[in-house]
This record gives sequence, C-alpha cells and structure tokens, in this order.
Amino acid sequence: MTRGFIDLHCHFVPGIDDGARDVEEGIAILRALGALGFERVIATPHMRPGLFDNTRADLERAYASLAPELAGRALPQTALSSEHYFDDVVYERLLSDAALPYPGGRAALLEFYEIDFPPMIDRCFAELRRRGILPVIAHPERYRCSWKSLDALERLVDAGAATLLDTAALTGKYGRVPQRTAELILEQGLYHAACSDAHRPRDVAEVARGIERIQQLYGDDEVELLFIDGPRALLDGKLPD
Ligand SMILES: [Fe+2]
Repeated sequence: MTRGFIDLHCHFVPGIDDGARDVEEGIAILRALGALGFERVIATPHMRPGLFDNTRADLERAYASLAPELAGRALPQTALSSEHYFDDVVYERLLSDAALPYPGGRAALLEFYEIDFPPMIDRCFAELRRRGILPVIAHPERYRCSWKSLDALERLVDAGAATLLDTAALTGKYGRVPQRTAELILEQGLYHAACSDAHRPRDVAEVARGIERIQQLYGDDEVELLFIDGPRALLDGKLPD
C-alpha cells in the first residue's frame, strides 16, 4: 500500500549509530514504513563527532554494503543522506562538501544540542542558504528552548529555514512537553514536513499513531502536506506553499 509518503529522516542503515542493529532490523523498518504508505525513505544516519564519529565515507560504505540486501525486495525506494549534528566540525563539513545533504544537494538535515540553538545559527544558516543548501531543523519539538517559547524557531523559519516534525512526538513518545510543543508548532503552521526518525521496527507503530492523530486533528490535507508535498519541496530546496 503506497500513499506516496516520503520519509526524510530514518535510521535503517545498520551498525553505524543507534539505529538498526543488523540488516534484518533495517529491512523490517523499511517494510513497516512501506506498509504504512511510504514509497521513499531517506537514510539519515548520525554524523555527530564524539558520539557517532561517522565521516561521509563511513556512511557511504555502510549504505553501499546494505544496498545488495535490499535489492529485489518489495520495499520503499531508498537514498542516503545524514542527520548532521550542528557543531563546528560538522558545519565545516557542510561548507567543504564533506557532509551528506539530501539527494540533489539542495537541503540538509540538522540536529542541535538539546538545550538551545547555538548563538551563531542565523549567520550559519544564511551562509548555507547562500550556498544553495536549505537548512532542515530536525525535531524542533524536542529542544528545550522551544518548550518555553517558539520565538527562536519562528525567527529561523521566517529567515527561510525548514522544520521537520518527528511524528511520534504527537503520541507522547518523548513526554508530554514535547508532545504539546509539537501540537503548538503544528497549530502555528511552522512545520514543513514530518518524518519517522525510526531507529527500530517497533518505532513505526508510533509513527502510524502519530499520522492518525494528525488526520483526526487537522485532516487529510495536513497529512498530505507533511508526508508528500512538504518532503518533495524540501528535497527541491524549497519551502512548501
Ligand atoms: Fe534521528
């Protein structure tokens, strides 16, 4: 069953971070996402110095060794990108072509320190935009600064950054405050797309519940925006209309 959904954030590549632990688990994640209606799933293993010390070459190698295992199976299409932890080292990689933006190179997934956005963020985002890379903020509902106020997020979105909802946040997977924050960001129309951020096959059940919740609260159009039109626009380096 494909509904044409596109997942811009998923950890199905095994053995490279805290995502899938082996090939079987990676395949099970993709199979479950396919059953939920995803036709395309972008792998976004972590690039996070000190925690997941992956270079672009490491991630490319891991993805290439998984590819033959996926061939010939009825699974969503896949491609490789990365979830870039936004520190000096990774920012420098983004500027020097040593990172892994989304296919086409027009947008890149960025995650942040959980407390706050870094002070230089506006200047860094402007520089990325100047180079044709749309910054995509991963799970803004999980950062503590968003729990107190959405001002910083709104400022970044106004300046042209994109945001990606972790769908399972809407089911309370990360607690009540991130859940409520996700609802507020949705109500304010500050999300451009939604994703699974699945690390294990069982995570996909919560994504399914999150999608149902979006449908109940905001209707089918919102589901289409967050899982089809939004991801497509971001892959094009644009914000959805
Ligand atoms: Fe992630």
